[in-house]
Amino acid sequence: MTGLFREEIIEEIRGRVDIVDYVGEYVNLRKQGNSFVGNCPFHADKTPSFHVTPENGLFYCFGCGVGGDIFSFAMKIENLDFPQAVEKLAQRAGVNLVRQAVSRQQQEHLDRLNRIREINREAALYFFANLRAGEGKAARAYLQSRGVNKESQRVFALGFAPGGSNLLQLHLGQKGIQQEEMLAAGLVIKRDDGRVIDRFRDRLMFPITDVRGRVVGFGGRLLGPGEPKYLNTPETQVFHKKSLLYGLHLALPAIRQEKTVILVEGYLDVIALHQHQLTNAVASLGTAFTPEHGRLIKRYAREVILLFDSDEAGRKATDRAIEIFREQGLQVKIAALPGAKDPDEFLQIYGRKAFLNALAKALPIIPYRLQRLKSEMSLDEPGSKSALLAQLFPDLAKLSGQVERQEYVRLLAQELNLPEKAIWDDFRRNQGEQRRKYPLLRDKSPEIRNNTIGNKNVNSFRNPYLIAQENMIKLLLKEPKLVFQVEQRLGSDVFADKRCQEVFFLIKTLLESRTGEPVTIADLVNHAPESVKNFIAKLSSLDSLPLGERQIEDTITSLQLRYLEEQVEQKQQQIKEAEAAKDSSGRQNLLQEIINLQRKIQSLK
Ligand code: UTP
Ligand code: MN
Repeated sequence: MTGLFREEIIEEIRGRVDIVDYVGEYVNLRKQGNSFVGNCPFHADKTPSFHVTPENGLFYCFGCGVGGDIFSFAMKIENLDFPQAVEKLAQRAGVNLVRQAVSRQQQEHLDRLNRIREINREAALYFFANLRAGEGKAARAYLQSRGVNKESQRVFALGFAPGGSNLLQLHLGQKGIQQEEMLAAGLVIKRDDGRVIDRFRDRLMFPITDVRGRVVGFGGRLLGPGEPKYLNTPETQVFHKKSLLYGLHLALPAIRQEKTVILVEGYLDVIALHQHQLTNAVASLGTAFTPEHGRLIKRYAREVILLFDSDEAGRKATDRAIEIFREQGLQVKIAALPGAKDPDEFLQIYGRKAFLNALAKALPIIPYRLQRLKSEMSLDEPGSKSALLAQLFPDLAKLSGQVERQEYVRLLAQELNLPEKAIWDDFRRNQGEQRRKYPLLRDKSPEIRNNTIGNKNVNSFRNPYLIAQENMIKLLLKEPKLVFQVEQRLGSDVFADKRCQEVFFLIKTLLESRTGEPVTIADLVNHAPESVKNFIAKLSSLDSLPLGERQIEDTITSLQLRYLEEQVEQKQQQIKEAEAAKDSSGRQNLLQEIINLQRKIQSLK
């Protein structure tokens, strides 16, 4: 059986399989300091470049750059996928539950969070029962009119909050839950006059769960017209809108299998899709998609299909989502549902088959943009084609590979009936202009952002800014808790290198989601995409410096310095541009900014 593995199981296997024993079955290893070395099994290795560090359970080859944990090793050496590797290693390990030791303080915090979830669950059960009782009659009729069948109602645990002002409070009170706790869970509101009333009254209730399926909040919909149509739980210790996705827990098995997520706008869209066996659909909680959502999705999928409402708001949301997910390195496709306002309505009117058809026609970013531009402008007028192209060039520039770019130029040439060469010339000219106008864009080219140029180039080892970032990450891998200090002192922008950035956010997200439990390298590796795993393996097998106050301070300061220096360099570049453009006030401002930066730099030295 493949599919969904609980994190604890992965952890348990990792704890039980000795990486030196296991890798030793394939590679002749000998001890060297704290690690083991041998000839790499993944490339023709004459000098032993292959390192295994039992301390953190990782391997890394300095010759070919392959690295990771026991699971990565099993996948690569036996050519398995992740579930197969887990199965194989599980067999080797046997099964037993190992609980992590946590401090009392951490335990108290965890208990508090669990308590909030428990209260939310109690509330969900109450709403669930109400939907099926006399009070729920109108809500049941409403669901029926919306085509939500009984099975979906059960799967999504839909409920009903009756109209009284304190019915939920009374119910929870009977279960021994204090008013303070209800407030902390966001289930009740304290009014100005001091009275505490139920937040959700006379609403159809959609429980919202975290990725593990624990109820953390609710969306409540009015049955009739009125404002607001939906009321959501406010931010609480367990309810963070920017990183939750409606339906994710239920969608996980399908997402893992298909490596694709369908993103829709509304709760009812998610339910409609699941009801039609499209179980990889999720939605945000009525807010714009965030980089956190992107990172969450990237743990399980490679591709997102955006399926937003067919109105202007939906198109705007699509544009924003494209940016967010592209930035995260996810493949993005956009599907259109002509003849309906949203996916839910489309399914009701045209059914599953038409829907699958529309999904199959989902377009990648450039063809999508092209289609939209073509429908918005007339191409008969002189100059219109080049105006259209100019709008596509930023997308073309953001493609990660030249081959892909060539394919799209070919497509554009066909679609616009232009020679490829003319498009290339225009593209290059446009990029040159962009660079002159916005010098920072140059640093945002995907190659530099992802540091792919730097990686291929030995010079990257001499780039002090990159080294400072990597040192910081090395330190964070040893002492994850420092992320908060680093963020507070340096902000999160100091990591320009994509992989450093990913590790930084991964540590931060994990720590936040656990609130209290420690984060280990193994946890990070568990949640990291393969490329980042590799990077973690590399950094953590480099060397192990002692971890003192002094070293922490030095690492932070040095990163701050390098970051500020980088800023100075950018401004200097901009000054040149301003001079060329005879923009003297711009030049003056930039000078002032440089002076300020230099002062900061001096104060740190
Ligand atoms: P929609 O209005 O498209 O909602 O808003 P929907 O789920 O499709 O519901 P129906 O079909 O109108 O009944 C999309 C999402 O925006 C959030 C909710 O998450 C909703 O699912 N939203 C909407 C709010 O948070 N508050 C609102 O007042 C409206
Ligand atoms: Mn809708």
